[in-house]
Amino acid sequence: MRIVLLGSPGSGKGTQASRIIGKYNIPHISTGDIFRDNIKRQTSIGLEAKKFIDKGHLVPDDLTLKIIEDRFIQPDCAEGFLLDGFPRTIVQAEALELELQKNVKKLDAVVNLDVHDEAIISRMTGRRVCSKCGATYNLTFNKPTVDNICDKCGGALLIREDDKLETVTNRLKVYKTETQPLIDFYKQKGILITVNGELDAEVVFQNICNALEQF
Ligand code: AP5
Ligand code: MG
Ligand code: ZN
Repeated sequence: MRIVLLGSPGSGKGTQASRIIGKYNIPHISTGDIFRDNIKRQTSIGLEAKKFIDKGHLVPDDLTLKIIEDRFIQPDCAEGFLLDGFPRTIVQAEALELELQKNVKKLDAVVNLDVHDEAIISRMTGRRVCSKCGATYNLTFNKPTVDNICDKCGGALLIREDDKLETVTNRLKVYKTETQPLIDFYKQKGILITVNGELDAEVVFQNICNALEQF
């Protein structure tokens, strides 16, 4: 199975990704997570990407395509993958298509999580992420059992650097101009599934599974 998760920042891509990969047994590829890992390790890619991420801008296509190409050559991608946060521009979507064509492969489905801006803002300001395992929580919708401690691994929960209100507003703006055109791009290819991302996360997951099975 080759799936893309599309949706505005904070629409729940990461939350759904962790459920979907468990069910379909495919690797989770989040370009945002790869960039954050590079930033943490202070690699040259991380240092370059940070300049854009901290402002809420997209990282340039050439750098993003480089990390994706490096990830695709890993053996675990041979039978499928779940892309989270990639592609985010038409240039990236076309590059992905070429890359898949080279290996006579194609995407099975693109899942678009539909969430209004007001819901996004309250989600992002309440988001907490585990510093050790990356699990995502929310102070309103999905609280950890003990304040600031990850239920899964006991790691400390942190606020993501780009979840400040001003940066979130910018990310939403960038999403509308750069990424939203992908909805039509994939609709025209007949592989777009849109689900209401404002329902309870478990219900959203069930709706995604039902849609994928009917596909
Ligand atoms: P990235 O890490 O991909 O961030 P994003 O797309 O902005 O999305 P988020 O990770 O913020 O949200 P999400 O949709 O995963 O939602 P989550 O599940 O966490 O990218 C970060 C940056 O890296 C970009 O801004 C860009 O600079 C750069 N970048 C990455 N990829 C790139 C690319 N391809 N090209 C160029 N640049 C790139 O949920 C959010 C919150 O809501 C959580 O608190 C969660 O608990 C809660 N929540 C989730 N679902 C529900 C629900 N159903 N109900 C209530 N609350 C919910
Ligand atoms: Mg995410
Ligand atoms: Zn953890």
